[in-house]
Amino acid sequence: MNKNASGGRRMFISSLGRLGTSAIAAGSILPAQEKSAARGKKADEKPEDVGPTEDLMREHGVLNRVLLGYEACIDRIEQKRDFKPEVVADAATVIRKFVEDYHERQEEQFLFPRFEKAGVLTDLVRVLKSQHEAGRGLTDRVMSLAKSRGADDRPKLAEALRQFVRVYRPHEAREDTVLFPELRKIVSAH
Ligand SMILES: [Fe+2]
Ligand SMILES: [Fe+2]
Repeated sequence: MNKNASGGRRMFISSLGRLGTSAIAAGSILPAQEKSAARGKKADEKPEDVGPTEDLMREHGVLNRVLLGYEACIDRIEQKRDFKPEVVADAATVIRKFVEDYHERQEEQFLFPRFEKAGVLTDLVRVLKSQHEAGRGLTDRVMSLAKSRGADDRPKLAEALRQFVRVYRPHEAREDTVLFPELRKIVSAH
């Protein structure tokens, strides 16, 4: 998963360039390691020895940066300050392309089935999967509302962003502190 994860991050970073999400994504959201990956590794540079759960935790760093961006947008909408909906659309694209279509797919294909097969933390895994689904629905809503220029839709957009943050802060915290540490107990080091 590690090698695929690095490849996926690189794929995501190159897709950001194509999407033109420069302001919020490449500049402020990406953590340092994503930026260095974007610059490209030297040919003689060895791949980092990072375990699969560490990789997933690092990817939560990208999620966290977007959540901070969402919270800043919620504040601006609530305070009726100047606000660019395209910034929210760009941030939602990062969530769709990297968090939902890559990071969460990794969890759903490689991580959750291990727990289900071992009969460990199955209730938590069920909740996490349902949160992935809920998050995708909220991202659809955020993307749609971010396109709207109607002032009436701004509070609806703020509410959708608020709901997303409310789902994902505990979601990633449970994965980081409960699920990921447990993985070491159910699979061998190899
Ligand atoms: Fe997840
Ligand atoms: Fe996750």
